[in-house]
Amino acid sequence: MDIMIFRSSEAVAEYATQVIKDLINKKPATVLGMATGSTPLLMYRRLIEECRRGFLSFREVTTFNLDEYYGVNGEDARSYRAYMQREFFDHIDIVPENTHLPACSSDQDHLDVSRNYEALIAGKGGIDLQVLGLGQNGHIGFNEPTSSLGSRTRIKTLTQGTLNINSQYFSSESQPELAITMGIATILEARQILMIATGAKKAEPVRQFVEGPVSTMCPASALQFHNNTQVLLDEDAASLLANREYYESVQVQKRQLAEQFRGI
Ligand code: GLP
Repeated sequence: MDIMIFRSSEAVAEYATQVIKDLINKKPATVLGMATGSTPLLMYRRLIEECRRGFLSFREVTTFNLDEYYGVNGEDARSYRAYMQREFFDHIDIVPENTHLPACSSDQDHLDVSRNYEALIAGKGGIDLQVLGLGQNGHIGFNEPTSSLGSRTRIKTLTQGTLNINSQYFSSESQPELAITMGIATILEARQILMIATGAKKAEPVRQFVEGPVSTMCPASALQFHNNTQVLLDEDAASLLANREYYESVQVQKRQLAEQFRGI
């Protein structure tokens, strides 16, 4: 993992935007894995801006979101589909049919929906770049602690902690306790991963997944198996890391090597 520490969440969003922009400009038919939550919002705003200014086009891009609440309709403002439309898709030139979420109504077979989602991702050649946020309990997507590191897209029961954090978006009687999420193995198949974590509430899960052991109790720690992951942190999220100086020196060395290589 490449641990990159930025002075602010804006600088994190700027870097993530550049990476995605460079990738799409190189490969217009990029397959992007998308995340929801408050963390990627700044990045979505910057990507929208780039698109409006004509520096970036999503016309050939396909997207797959990590997760969706089970039984929550896409028209419902609390669904992740509605979030994606509101915060991103409605403001860019993406073809609506190329945007995918693992939506599942209560009268659909969740096993079919999950299998189809995996098949759809594989049919598009797999995910080129997956954006990830981090749950306060170390979850990625909705892979809660104890999720199998070999899991595929499936239904998951949310933990009480996650329900409490998400309760701000739901009245208690209608809060979904289930979600369909890409599995950890699905996520690890992405060719590149950008894990974004900002703010003091992420400092402890960041410490655990970066410097702790690989464990189902901290699903994000599975990223230690992935060979092309950049972990983008602001100062607050990086505040509990023990080896910060080392991560910073690695970045300096990388920049120097890149310069040297370009000079040859
Ligand atoms: C939810 C989503 C995750 C997201 C996490 C963090 O649980 N399922 O994909 O990464 O929240 O959200 P936030 O960025 O708001 O902290």
